[in-house]
Amino acid sequence: MQTEIIKIRDQDDFVLLERAGEVIRSSGLVAFPTETVYGLGGNALDPEASAKIYRAKGRPSDNPLIVHLSDPDEAGLYCETGELYYILASRFMPGPLTVILKKKKSNGRFIIPDETTGGLDSAAVRCPSDPIAHSLIRFAGVPVAAPSANRSGSPSPTTAEHVKNDLYGRIDMIIDGGPCNFGLESTVVKIDGDSLTILRPGAVTAEDLEPYCSSVTVSDAESKPGEVPLSPGMKYRHYSPSKRFYLVNGEDSDVIGFFMDRQKSENCALIVCSEDASVLEDRNLFILGSRNNKFSQAHSLFGCLREADASDADVIYARLPDRSGIGLALFNRLIRACGHNVINL
Ligand code: TXA
Ligand code: MG
Repeated sequence: MQTEIIKIRDQDDFVLLERAGEVIRSSGLVAFPTETVYGLGGNALDPEASAKIYRAKGRPSDNPLIVHLSDPDEAGLYCETGELYYILASRFMPGPLTVILKKKKSNGRFIIPDETTGGLDSAAVRCPSDPIAHSLIRFAGVPVAAPSANRSGSPSPTTAEHVKNDLYGRIDMIIDGGPCNFGLESTVVKIDGDSLTILRPGAVTAEDLEPYCSSVTVSDAESKPGEVPLSPGMKYRHYSPSKRFYLVNGEDSDVIGFFMDRQKSENCALIVCSEDASVLEDRNLFILGSRNNKFSQAHSLFGCLREADASDADVIYARLPDRSGIGLALFNRLIRACGHNVINL
């Protein structure tokens, strides 16, 4: 399949998105930037488009897709919305928050087809704040189903180049809008009455959500302190480099010492913060950003994983991040990327 690449660099280029909208309306697939990661978009109301998304990514068909809207109020057309949804929408949308809602029926059938939601009776809705994503959804004139635009299992793409590496020749169009702002996927929440459960941590944190509901629970047991399984759990592997990849857990000086020893004895790649980089030899170092700036670490993480994987190293190491604030999102991606291979010093 021929993949067309369209560059959007300024407001004048936005007219080019009209054709991208047409591609989506006619069951085609378009990869596009959002404020989190690049998405692979297709018409969420068209089972054939959803089937194409699963095929292009090599994704298991029971893993549901997020439905992207240009206006959070449109969720009411397709799903049961309640008071808490609108409170969250007015505070966090457009933005990196995805909310799971029960799907609505029309003439006895779900309006959002089973093919889009992996057979579930619920749908995840999200309203991206990125102006390119917003315009594309408006031009498409339909809700846009979009998983991250990577081959299933590999790190999510944060640049058009990453999308090209994974999906060139498998989709109709790639919209190159430059690097994504945040760099990790949206926070996914489920509403239970006036409580929230975080199914996937992201830029919108539990602390951000707490003022708007009675309680926030983080569902993912792997994200809780003290519950890091030490045995390799291949079935949990996601976002993964193809090389052996380990997280290292310990005090600053212990971790640096470990990294120095490994650099001498192994052909390894190290994913480190800039403070650590200044004391390590600069061979095969991939720099996340400052230890004090988790946004910069989130922004660089998936790119570093891809680059470390493409390097000549045999094995990759990174530090186990702390779990406060958006550190929880970093932890969640890293622990899955390494398949729970943690070296405790
Ligand atoms: O930031 C993002 O959310 C990006 C951009 C492109 O918007 N999209 C994204 O999609 O990360 P994806 O498919 O890679 O991840 C969607 C996550 C999956 O973990 C999926 O299982 C969950 O959301 N999900 C989707 N619909 C769901 C539902 N109805 N119930 C429970 N989980 C759902
Ligand atoms: Mg994904």
